[in-house]
Amino acid sequence: MKTIIVLPTYNEKKNIGILIPQLQSVFKKIKKHSMHILVVDDTSPDGTAAEVKKLQKKYRNLHLISGEKQGLGVAYLRGFNHAIDKLNAEVVFSMDADLSHPPALIPQFMNGIDEGYDLVVGSRYIRGGGTPDWDLKRKVISRGGNFFARVVSGMYSVHDCTSGFRAIRASAFKKMNPSHLHTRGYAFLSTFLYELLSTGSKAKEVPLVFHDRQFGETKLKTRDMVEFFLNALRLRLKSSSRMMKFATVGGSGILVNLAIFTSARNILFGTAGESNWTLLGSSLLGDEISLVYNFLLNQLWTFKDSTNTDHLFTKLMKFHVVALTSVVINNSILFLLHKGFGVPDVFAKFIGILCAFLWNYLVNVKWTWREKIE
Ligand code: GDD
Ligand code: MN
Repeated sequence: MKTIIVLPTYNEKKNIGILIPQLQSVFKKIKKHSMHILVVDDTSPDGTAAEVKKLQKKYRNLHLISGEKQGLGVAYLRGFNHAIDKLNAEVVFSMDADLSHPPALIPQFMNGIDEGYDLVVGSRYIRGGGTPDWDLKRKVISRGGNFFARVVSGMYSVHDCTSGFRAIRASAFKKMNPSHLHTRGYAFLSTFLYELLSTGSKAKEVPLVFHDRQFGETKLKTRDMVEFFLNALRLRLKSSSRMMKFATVGGSGILVNLAIFTSARNILFGTAGESNWTLLGSSLLGDEISLVYNFLLNQLWTFKDSTNTDHLFTKLMKFHVVALTSVVINNSILFLLHKGFGVPDVFAKFIGILCAFLWNYLVNVKWTWREKIE
């Protein structure tokens, strides 16, 4: 597979001169794939691009694009798009150019891709990984930030969600909605992971021992940290806004359901009298009509951005299966409460609907629309 290591650089002249030959010698050990490098330089004043051009005379698999400095995220997006659209990469890597990410790990990343994973993450926070050069304060900041992003945004399956060392399958990249990736600075890395996981990418982690750079300085600014925290909250609001929408749809569906139920009860009671069958019949009628109404609203609104390409009919069928199980739950509760405990019918029905809601939401998110987060 054509694999391109995307290296964003800003004033990394010295580092890039050491890193590129190191990468080339690791590439020799990888027989199955065709390995390339793309340097995404933001017109570094120290002459990083000139250094790369010098090396291009020696290495034919070395590419360079130059742009204006707009932040790490913008540089990565430009690099990934160029690698995939222009150079036909099937796998892209993100990697720091300052020698903090050891090239020797690349074969392990490629093994993960060969095993079928869409994403391999170099992880400092799993067994075997670490940040031995950091003082306690930096460790606390990085771990705290990472914990915050994981828990707040719901990215439990990866332990290091700010790591910049990753291999990504181009097909997984293409599944994402590019307009969701607008984070400009370092926060891009967590947004990017969030979007990959939400579109169904399977991730593997490889332990990463991260060493501090020896030459030059970090480009991480306070502004990047602020963006990072605000962004984690934004991602959380994104998934909880989905639950709010689902609840709103469900809530209006309850009204539709109750309205149908009470009218049917009145009509059937008038004509057929009170029996188990008129109670069940009115209840089922309310369920089915509100069901189709809920499905359509969820499809058009709650899951408007869903990348699930299943046929509408498949989703409608799944929605029915989930609903059927919910109907069993909510009617069991109705009968138990009304017939068993003498609770007024409308109230018993209402409680049944509430219990069924929770079940309904979770199974529909995970199964019908196959969303990976929440
Ligand atoms: N083109 C371009 N444009 N490159 C940039 C820019 C930019 O605006 N900002 C940073 N870079 C490049 C750097 O030149 C370097 O190659 C790489 O991105 C990482 O930048 P550093 O400044 O060395 O980041 P760090 O060491 O402080 O941050 C590390 O930890 C972060 C938090 O965990 C990295 O591993 C990051 O990937 C990680 O997010
Ligand atoms: Mn660094």
